[in-house]
Amino acid sequence: MPPDKIPGEVGWTVTGDKTVEFARNPISFVESRIEKHDSKIFIARVLNKPTIFVTSNNGVRDILVTHQSSFRMGYKDFGYMHALFGDLFLFEDDENAYRVRNLVKELFHSTHCDNYMTVIMSIIGDTLENVHLRSSVDIYEVFKDMITNVCLTLFLDISQEEYHEYKNIAKTHWHGLISVPVSVKVKGWASAYSKADEAKSMLLSKIKEKLKSSNNRFLQLVSEAGFESDDEACSHLLLFISSILPKAMSSLLTSFVLETAGHFKEHMREGALEDENYLESLLLEVQRLFPPLYGGRRYTTEEVIIDGFTIPKDHCVAYITKYANRDSNIFEQADVFIPERWSNRNCEKQHLIWTFGGGSRSCIGIHFINRILKSTSLYLLSRFDWSLIKDVVPEYKTLPVARPKEPVFVAFLPKSTKEINGCKK
Ligand code: HEM
Repeated sequence: MPPDKIPGEVGWTVTGDKTVEFARNPISFVESRIEKHDSKIFIARVLNKPTIFVTSNNGVRDILVTHQSSFRMGYKDFGYMHALFGDLFLFEDDENAYRVRNLVKELFHSTHCDNYMTVIMSIIGDTLENVHLRSSVDIYEVFKDMITNVCLTLFLDISQEEYHEYKNIAKTHWHGLISVPVSVKVKGWASAYSKADEAKSMLLSKIKEKLKSSNNRFLQLVSEAGFESDDEACSHLLLFISSILPKAMSSLLTSFVLETAGHFKEHMREGALEDENYLESLLLEVQRLFPPLYGGRRYTTEEVIIDGFTIPKDHCVAYITKYANRDSNIFEQADVFIPERWSNRNCEKQHLIWTFGGGSRSCIGIHFINRILKSTSLYLLSRFDWSLIKDVVPEYKTLPVARPKEPVFVAFLPKSTKEINGCKK
């Protein structure tokens, strides 16, 4: 059968552009078009480029794995990423990108991640030990602060005295990434973008200073990793102290707590505490249903067929993780949280979850992330029960990183108190 024509409208340059509609509500943008065209693959004009949206699981697999050699990375001209991150290998495709990727990947090898655990556990303990003493906590903010502390301590060797200063600098850098890209400074007033540019310089010079002077394990490994120069190492380290990592990891931890909160989920919490395999299934299901990043971006380097549709050369393609992870052609009851699906016959479908990308450009932080997810969830499961202050989980926003639209307040109750009181909540 000949491949199908891609449904959708690209309209005229500028006037046909749908960037604002997409940014305002990415969920309704995508869902309305899937429904209108009765197709999980469609075309629309975004960032003033005809962009092919791919939301089917097969389509995402074709892009990231099966036909990955027909694509190049698509982040260099995406907003202000390149301006504010510099020449990260994430933007590149050549041999240099793979050389650097291999160096960085080694820093997050599972054996090195084991060595980072002392620092990680001490920050988890300091943050969560007394979480029950407050009547309730804004759970996303608690986790975000905790992971920011982990990243700045591990990757930049920041002392607790310097922590708030560097947390704010990283935050300013992040605000530039999501701002209008105009660098203006008038009589003391600076645009978010120009402040972010300054924050980037401050972070880079701190990384450079620490790389020379610190005895910290991670920075030592970076020095010995084989980067061509300190400048090269510094420019790639910027990603690891950027706010995007704490936001994404906090998003997953928040979804874990929300999906396991309350009396009716007690069996899940107990099951996860008693059985490591069940905990892993539970965390996997969180990753499937609640990917922190909405999707990714590529350009075709040649004509290629994706899930039955021909995509011409030099076209922009956006893959949308959330829908691929919830594709009912692949997963039964795809929108329902069922950790048990991973305990038996569905196990082989684990590689069809695209939360961390796939193929040769998949996320290199996976061991690190799994260590943090597992140790944080075990810390909470072994000490506390928890419930939501309001029973309803608010809707999630998706951009720039997924999280509940409104703060969600969670109350933690120490397990011993529950036993002493002899009552089950
Ligand atoms: C929950 C947290 C995270 C999520 C959801 C996530 C997700 C992703 C995804 C989807 C990609 C692939 C992008 C694409 O191919 O279009 C990616 C790439 C990458 N991730 Fe992560 N990531 C997370 C945390 C981390 C952490 C903690 C690190 C390192 C400490 C990391 C380092 C990287 C790097 C360096 C790349 C680029 C790989 C390349 O260009 O070849 N990520 N990540």
